[in-house]
Amino acid sequence: MRLLAGLLLISVTQFALASILAIDYGTEWMKVSLVKPGSPFDVLLNRDSKRKIQSSVGWKNNDRLFGSDAFNIATRFPKDSFSSLKYLQGQTTDTDTISFFTSIANADIVETTRKTVSLRRSDGTEWSVEELIAMQFAYVKELAESTANEKVVDVVVAIPPYYSQFERQAVLDAIEISGLKSLGIINDGTAVAVNYAMTRTFPTPETHLIYDAGAGSIRATIATFSTTPASDNGETSKSKKKDSTSVEIKAIGYSRQIGGDELDRRLREILIDKFNSKSQKNIRTDSRGMAKLWKEAGRVKGVLSANAEAVARVENLAFDIDFRSSVSREEFENVLTDLKPAFSQPILDALENAKLSLDNITSVILMGGSSRVPIIQQAVRDTVGDGKVAQNVNADEAVVLGTAFYGASISSQFKTKDIKVQDVIPYDIQVSYLAEAKAADASSRTLTSVLFPAHSKYGSKKILTIKRKNDFDITLSYKSPQPGVFPSHISQARLLNVSEAIANLTEQGAIDPVIKVTLALTESGFVIIQDAVAFGEVKEESIAAKLKGFFGGSSADSTTLDTSETPSVDPSSAAPTGKPNKRGNNEGTIQLEFDLTPLSIHPLTYAEKKLSHERLLTIQRSERSKQQREEQRNLLESYLYRLRDLTGGGEDAPFIIFSKATERDEISHLLDKTSDWLNENGETADLLDLWSKREALEALEKPIQTRHMESEILLPSIQDLEQALQAGQVFLESARQNYTMEEASGVLHKYTWEEIEDVETRLKSTASWLEEKVKAQKALPLNEDPVLLSSDVISRGKAFQNHVMRLLKRKIPKAKPTSTGTDSTANSTTLPVAEETTTIQDSSTHGHDEL
Ligand SMILES: *[C@@H]1O[C@H](CO)[C@@H](O)[C@H](O)[C@H]1NC(C)=O
Ligand SMILES: *[C@@H]1O[C@H](CO)[C@@H](O)[C@H](O)[C@H]1NC(C)=O
Ligand SMILES: *[C@@H]1O[C@H](CO)[C@@H](O)[C@H](O)[C@H]1NC(C)=O
Ligand SMILES: *[C@@H]1O[C@H](CO)[C@@H](O)[C@H](O)[C@H]1NC(C)=O
Ligand SMILES: *[C@@H]1O[C@H](CO)[C@@H](O)[C@H](O)[C@H]1NC(C)=O
Repeated sequence: MRLLAGLLLISVTQFALASILAIDYGTEWMKVSLVKPGSPFDVLLNRDSKRKIQSSVGWKNNDRLFGSDAFNIATRFPKDSFSSLKYLQGQTTDTDTISFFTSIANADIVETTRKTVSLRRSDGTEWSVEELIAMQFAYVKELAESTANEKVVDVVVAIPPYYSQFERQAVLDAIEISGLKSLGIINDGTAVAVNYAMTRTFPTPETHLIYDAGAGSIRATIATFSTTPASDNGETSKSKKKDSTSVEIKAIGYSRQIGGDELDRRLREILIDKFNSKSQKNIRTDSRGMAKLWKEAGRVKGVLSANAEAVARVENLAFDIDFRSSVSREEFENVLTDLKPAFSQPILDALENAKLSLDNITSVILMGGSSRVPIIQQAVRDTVGDGKVAQNVNADEAVVLGTAFYGASISSQFKTKDIKVQDVIPYDIQVSYLAEAKAADASSRTLTSVLFPAHSKYGSKKILTIKRKNDFDITLSYKSPQPGVFPSHISQARLLNVSEAIANLTEQGAIDPVIKVTLALTESGFVIIQDAVAFGEVKEESIAAKLKGFFGGSSADSTTLDTSETPSVDPSSAAPTGKPNKRGNNEGTIQLEFDLTPLSIHPLTYAEKKLSHERLLTIQRSERSKQQREEQRNLLESYLYRLRDLTGGGEDAPFIIFSKATERDEISHLLDKTSDWLNENGETADLLDLWSKREALEALEKPIQTRHMESEILLPSIQDLEQALQAGQVFLESARQNYTMEEASGVLHKYTWEEIEDVETRLKSTASWLEEKVKAQKALPLNEDPVLLSSDVISRGKAFQNHVMRLLKRKIPKAKPTSTGTDSTANSTTLPVAEETTTIQDSSTHGHDEL
């Protein structure tokens, strides 16, 4: 296990500590990390102790599979193996991404009522992308829970920075369906930057470029790092002094779809051509064959990363033909030449967007499996220069570890190194609404303004000031349409009861009241409408107010758009309350309600998510009960084996010695019957049947076992009792002697005569009970149920012993100093009481062999 030095996380709160899951859900692989209070965090291992899990889910008949099991099943059940699902998140069925997905996958795409993607299994059932991804999240949730030994609920998921709001929403919906709760989502390049900052300080600011080439896309993220030492970060002495490191994302560049999968696809094309031309068949018509070639292309690509030549080999690829062909790296790279500029374009885009040059970049950090492909790595080196490429970053796990750290830092349950993250949006977001018609018959114009230009910071807010007298709609959208990538319209809000609110303010004396709408960028990259108010300054003296109304220069245009950025994120500045302002006027504010309608791709409704969650639970429940059934079947099976061994033992085997022939016959008979039943019904039998079959056999075996066990433990218990009785005899003699002495010396008696007699009676009756029982037991054959049980011997012995012990512990009575004279015991001497006695041991606790 690789521990992260110096990052031992200490939980801050005293109770309700919860672990946090971090998921780097890639197109091909997912990596998971668990942050547990009090433990250093690390990458979670799957059941095969692997540090990464293939992002696949599938079915083999009715058994659900995950990871590489699910991926590999594609070659046998191409319609029941679902991989590369990340392409489908938040996509309508008509995008370029979907076309690409269709070119590499065999899954049957079905359009949902939301125009998003569902996939159809061979049995006809349909599963939405959100559900299929939620299954994988639920799978790693369970994995984490069995590692943490507790429930895990909170999660942070890393996503590509270019994800639109629709794609981000799809991730959140999948999280909810899985039964997890999102603490936030983080752009994956940002997560790498956080990971980079975790173990470093930056006394002078440094800017690095993170180049991440994954299976599905390439992204470049530019981040500037700087550390403010504890002494001058202005914190008061009350708060703990810590260095504060800030990670500021400057810009991104990206290419959707050009990643490892596109390389695999092109390599598979080479293999397809080779196969088709050799065999004179068309492999494209065989989905199993295509799935086999897809897998082989991935393998061959890996070989070609390290070798100039590779051999592709698939037995029985299709049409009963074994495929074998060699591919050279040159051949492969020849079909990639057109992509070479695309490999480095994200770097150039990111630099341009950040308004920086390569001179400003300290190093380029290479991430992602595809960055190991020589042609891609060469393209990067050619662009940035060899010297700039950093070699010291754990390329495979930086995203998930950075995500885990980010989760810990935002949960407020953990004390972490102080790292402040500032992210930015990559797209212009605009707002638009219909201008109020100037005349009744005039057609209205749509007014549009870019509210959050690209590179606006997460957490920033804008107040939109609009002069309106009636209800109206505002629409949020992406400015530059990306046809075939994602839709532009995000949401629409209808502001309600505007005229009432305006009338109210006017009545209070406000001149030209306006509507103020506060819009915000959340820390997960969503744009939201946070607040809407009607607002007007209410003058103190109404005459002056009226005069000012004439000459105050209020705009004639009734629809001015003022998008001033608020300097602080203080919500009170967004929703001013009726406080007097500097000029002695009152600010009148009326809260407005608004109806929000999502546009383009609707997020799943609560009811839809609940239904999907139930669907997943139903599968989980039936898988669990199937698992229990299998365990019970295995128990019965192995019990039958054991019992058969026992009944077939030799003359001197305990099981034979302690059983009667009739009993063995009965057991053998039921054993045969049960074996037959298991062979016939083993696969379908339910839990209770399996259990009761075993119970029935055990009931027959039990008396025999008991006899054997009793025979082993009876003798020690008898010996114990005999010793106790001997000790009782000693007590009796001593007590009687003392009694006589007490009598003679005239001191008080420790025991009455009756008490001493009583001990003798008990001793005699116990001894005769034992004698009688032992005799009877000895007369019995070993295969009869015993008449004397060790437990009876022990309980008799304990009863006798306790009685004697109580007497023995009694204090010797002392004479009272003021005697009434009748007593002759005033001068008794105190004598020490002997504590030594024989104690009966509970021989049932002695170890013994079972039959
Ligand atoms: C980037 O580099 C150029 C050229 O070296 C320099 O003039 C400029 O100040 C740098 N910008 C930043 C933000 O460091
Ligand atoms: C808005 O106005 C309608 C009547 O036009 C009224 O019924 C409703 O209660 C008002 N809502 C609010 C929030 O004031
Ligand atoms: C104006 O609104 C305030 C509260 O928002 C309410 O108390 C008052 O009655 C309203 N006045 C008119 C004239 O509607
Ligand atoms: C009898 O007396 C002796 C000596 O005082 C004492 O140690 C012993 O415990 C007594 N026996 C009983 C049964 O109390
Ligand atoms: C008993 O004690 C009394 C005084 O307390 C004493 O006079 C007497 O001699 C003692 N008897 C014996 C037997 O020690």
